[in-house]
Amino acid sequence: YDYDLLVVGSANADLVIGVERRPAPGETVLGSDLAVHPGGKGANQAVAAARLGARTALLARVGDDAHGRLLLELQRAAGVETRGVRVGGAPTGVALITVDPSGDNSIVVSPGANARLTPEDVRDAAGLFAGARVVSAQLEIPLETVAEVVRARAAGTRFVLNPSPPAPLPADVLAACDPLVVNEHEARFMLGGHAGGYDGKEPEDWARALLALGARSVVVTLGAEGALVAAGGTDTAAVRVPSPRVDAVDTTGAGDAFTAALAWRLARGEDLATAAAFAVRVGAAAVTKEGAQVSFPTAEEVAAL
Ligand code: RIB
Ligand code: NA
Repeated sequence: YDYDLLVVGSANADLVIGVERRPAPGETVLGSDLAVHPGGKGANQAVAAARLGARTALLARVGDDAHGRLLLELQRAAGVETRGVRVGGAPTGVALITVDPSGDNSIVVSPGANARLTPEDVRDAAGLFAGARVVSAQLEIPLETVAEVVRARAAGTRFVLNPSPPAPLPADVLAACDPLVVNEHEARFMLGGHAGGYDGKEPEDWARALLALGARSVVVTLGAEGALVAAGGTDTAAVRVPSPRVDAVDTTGAGDAFTAALAWRLARGEDLATAAAFAVRVGAAAVTKEGAQVSFPTAEEVAAL
């Protein structure tokens, strides 16, 4: 294999403002100075994995503009293979992000070039797919493109999906997820209207219900509480993986760092619970600093946590 991880997904310029509280409709609030950071769930995963030492490639689309150049620069600096990054067709995606004093964020994304990453772009990247041990995706690119990713995988290549922002998944995409990585919000969306759903139930129940829907394995991320993993098959018992306690400064991209670390460790042959135990430490390190990619740790920094 040429790559531990091929990430297919979005690349955004994150325009970040710190706020005391978010404005209500019709209200204006003043915030901090603007920070422009490289982000996007796909680009975040690629940088997170590469910084940990994974051999990583990115398939994405950026605009022919300053934001696109900023994103490509950071991918290359982290050691990501970027020959799969297409340029042009629309402006680079932008995420408008507010971060509150507890480190929580809310995000509005303008997909821009991400919406122009097509199934054809996936087919054109056959060489990258042939050499990837694990392929991961998220949902800031078109769903039909993600469906093509599932078909383009080499036999034996594992597929990891974070369905964010959540959307209804075709059955063949769900059936390929090994694991499906969801936070509480995404779990609730995926189980909405599904018999045996989530109301008043524990994350263990959500994991079981998501397995019943067809995912091969499930990881539920629980923020400061860590994560929970459950594999399909005969032993579907869920396992809790606690997180180290840290002071949260900015949680933006921590889920992406978690998923990338998990995918890399799975590529190295670890089981789900062992991989998740490492990934929660990576996610915890990422929340201690501002920004997404710029806050992701090296393997040494994870070890020191
Ligand atoms: O998951 C965090 C990311 O979501 C941010 O970097 C932003 O670009 C949005 O895509
Ligand atoms: Na961060």
